[in-house]
Amino acid sequence: MNIDGMPAIVTGAASGLGEGTARALAAKGAKVTLLDMNGDRLEQVAAEIGGLPILCDVTDATDAEVAVAKAHETHGACAIAVNCAGIAPAAKIVGRDGPMDLDAFRRVIEVNLIGTFNMLRLTAADMATREPNEDGERGVVVNTASIAAFEGQIGQAAYAASKGGVVGLTLPAAREFARTGVRVNAIAPGLFGTPMLLGMSQEVQDSLTSTLPFPQRFGKPEEYAALVVHMVENTVMNGECVRLDSALRMQPR
Ligand SMILES: NC(=O)c1ccc[n+]([C@@H]2O[C@H](COP(=O)([O-])OP(=O)(O)OC[C@H]3O[C@@H](n4cnc5c(N)ncnc54)[C@H](O)[C@@H]3O)[C@@H](O)[C@H]2O)c1
Repeated sequence: MNIDGMPAIVTGAASGLGEGTARALAAKGAKVTLLDMNGDRLEQVAAEIGGLPILCDVTDATDAEVAVAKAHETHGACAIAVNCAGIAPAAKIVGRDGPMDLDAFRRVIEVNLIGTFNMLRLTAADMATREPNEDGERGVVVNTASIAAFEGQIGQAAYAASKGGVVGLTLPAAREFARTGVRVNAIAPGLFGTPMLLGMSQEVQDSLTSTLPFPQRFGKPEEYAALVVHMVENTVMNGECVRLDSALRMQPR
């Protein structure tokens, strides 16, 4: 799909990978709607790229319905949806203070998996209302998984389970939407230099980068965004989860 002029919705767009994606899609000429819960930063990024900022909790059905409807009203039916909203708190299943709080587990699944599904269902329905292009294509969804879906570390049970869910829904969604010409792909990033990781101590960051085969540095949001752009532009890429991880295979801790 040619990105120029296409309505795009990016979640988690106030920071990190979502922000990088919103910027890259806008640079390619997309009409970008930015969703996030972090209002101040959202307004700032949207103003810089001429996008439409909408405060939205992706876990909330009504919030997301209103946001997709508002984006549709302003830019037309969604053609590109990129789900980057996510959280990554760490906790052992049985820690020093006993079993993990069940609501803490639930919250991670709620944001990373149910939030992604919530946006997938609404944007795909909106995409189905578009006129198809010459290839029969109406839209593209890119979800954000993590390599933790495949080799989750100790303390990542909730996060790995949520991202495993994101990987798992890629193929059934792509199969279901084949009829309407909507593609669904996922990216499983390794270690990227976003507030999620840059908030950790320098010691932890150094220890993390030392585990990367090559290149031995955090990925940049624009490198993640470059793969999103490719997934949107390459029409035969469908139903796939691609690792973007400097050949990293995470160890138990
Ligand atoms: N940074 C990495 O190394 C890395 C690696 C693998 C996967 N990921 C995944 O990439 C995605 C983006 O992460 P990032 O590194 O850019 O993190 P980040 O913290 O910089 O950005 C995440 C954004 O999501 C927003 N958000 C959180 N909960 C939300 C909700 N309920 N509704 C709407 N917005 C919400 C936050 O406000 C924030 O702006 C996440 O899904 C994360 O799990 C990141």
